[in-house]
Amino acid sequence: MSDAKAVLEIDDVTLQFGGLTALDHVSFEIREGEILGLIGPNGAGKTTCFNVMTGVYQATSGEVRFNGTVLGGLKRNKITKLGIARTFQNIRLFKSMTVLENVMVGSDAHSKVGFFDALFRTPRHRRTEQASLEKAKELLDIVGIKARHDEVASNLSYGDQRRLEIARAMATGPKLLCLDEPAAGFNPAEKQNLMALIRKVRDQGFTVLLIEHDMRLVMGVTDRIVVLEFGRKIAEGAPAEIRDNPAVIAAYLGVDEEDAS
Ligand SMILES: Nc1ncnc2c1ncn2[C@@H]1O[C@H](COP(=O)(O)OP(=O)(O)O)[C@@H](O)[C@H]1O
Ligand SMILES: [Mg+2]
Repeated sequence: MSDAKAVLEIDDVTLQFGGLTALDHVSFEIREGEILGLIGPNGAGKTTCFNVMTGVYQATSGEVRFNGTVLGGLKRNKITKLGIARTFQNIRLFKSMTVLENVMVGSDAHSKVGFFDALFRTPRHRRTEQASLEKAKELLDIVGIKARHDEVASNLSYGDQRRLEIARAMATGPKLLCLDEPAAGFNPAEKQNLMALIRKVRDQGFTVLLIEHDMRLVMGVTDRIVVLEFGRKIAEGAPAEIRDNPAVIAAYLGVDEEDAS
């Protein structure tokens, strides 16, 4: 794993919200084909990190590079086109659209047909539409909800809505898939299922950045883990190293590092 190239580099990124430093000189990289876990207590800066990577916020200082391209200043849709997709901590679906339509909205980000093709329903448009339909079904199959493709999204169980969100993010054809607490609100069995799905997604050739609050959960699925606390990176390493790291244990217990060691 260690000789794999960096897909995304977070280089000395600081982000301030007024007086609050949400990210404080954070640096780490995501390597091609890995599942990187980004963990830390609530408020540590995990979601903010996603928001900087995906163009929602601009870093106060520092740089984010994706395959060498500096992302600062790029619009969100441009970053999607470069190949970064994400899901949200709070599910964001088109609730009144069908499951299939939700995924196809994702694939439109990459659709090559123009307005003219769409207006006159040219053969090119029909071909593209057919291809994105096939692709959407394939993705629904991967996440395990293909049988429900005609269902209105709001009829899905909470867990299946999470799965749908992942399929929709995959439909933009990303190289890097960022999942923000995809198992939030799940029971332990559902969490295990989801972790298996994330491994499966990676095995399809995606690089995955997984935000998770539950430390035990990421241990079994990630290749490496980065730990944030109060906007600072406090540890980075293989799951086993992270589990035994006193600073990480202290962060999760909510006591001083000195007190814990
Ligand atoms: N838009 C914002 N404006 C002001 N403060 C924010 C904003 N977004 C996040 N924060 C603050 O930044 C810190 C990190 O938040 P966040 O990245 O959401 O943490 P996490 O995802 O690790 O729980 C928190 O203190 C949060 O209140
Ligand atoms: Mg968060």
